[in-house]
Amino acid sequence: MSLLTIEGLFKHFGGVAAVDNVSFEVRQGEILGLIGPNGSGKTTVLNLLSGFLPPDAGRVRMRDQDITGMAPARLAQRGVLRMFQMTRVFTRMSAFDNLLTAGMARGLSEAESTTRADALVEELTLGPVQYLDAGQLSGGQRKLLEFGMCFIEPPLVAMLDEPFAAVHPVMREVMAGFIRKRNAQGYTFLLVSHDMPIVVDLCQSAVCMNAGRVIAAGDVRAVLQNHDVIEAYLGNSDAHGQGGAPGLEVH
Ligand SMILES: Nc1ncnc2c1ncn2[C@@H]1O[C@H](COP(=O)(O)OP(=O)(O)O)[C@@H](O)[C@H]1O
Ligand SMILES: [Mg+2]
Repeated sequence: MSLLTIEGLFKHFGGVAAVDNVSFEVRQGEILGLIGPNGSGKTTVLNLLSGFLPPDAGRVRMRDQDITGMAPARLAQRGVLRMFQMTRVFTRMSAFDNLLTAGMARGLSEAESTTRADALVEELTLGPVQYLDAGQLSGGQRKLLEFGMCFIEPPLVAMLDEPFAAVHPVMREVMAGFIRKRNAQGYTFLLVSHDMPIVVDLCQSAVCMNAGRVIAAGDVRAVLQNHDVIEAYLGNSDAHGQGGAPGLEVH
């Protein structure tokens, strides 16, 4: 069943067609990968879907409701939430208080927020740093904190923009496990990532963009082996794959 239906989205920045007639579906309960070389429009798509930018044209529907251009706060209330490529936390507040604040901002009581924050600290291995100012956390720990803030009230669909980039492998595994567990509970993800092994591991399906357009969509392995996808990566980056299993060399 389709949770989000994206139809004919366009977004131009001056002369650049950042998103050029993009259509795809995010199905209920899946982890959909959104891949493509740098500058292909992935972040802009997330911005359009999460209400941070209005599209020039096109429609976004959640089940049978039109949510095109709805403000981020309203979308969050409906369970559509994104995480940023650059983490956003209150740097002069403790990690734990960031979680608490996130819970209360989403309408939970202080007691409920505290209970959930405790569980998330444990699950995300943030125990040793929970009372430090978030500004003192490593990049990876901040990413984990942001996962916690996002999932203190789990969204129906979470959009993640390069969550694994520049994160220590141990924390990357904590994140991947966190995503897998929430997905097993029925939550849906749209995952932008350059880490192809993780995309193959987590996603059943993927959409690949290049120069603002969708160039392949479907089964994740088929997408990675698609000729146009290989060409897009080889033509746009310093990747040096030999064909065959592409992407696996792409960073
Ligand atoms: N706010 C903006 N103003 C002008 N150009 C932008 C803006 N955001 C993105 N772009 C351009 O749109 C294209 C797609 O960018 P982006 O969505 O960030 O790609 P990706 O996330 O796939 O790397 C790029 O050419 C980028 O330079
Ligand atoms: Mg991006």
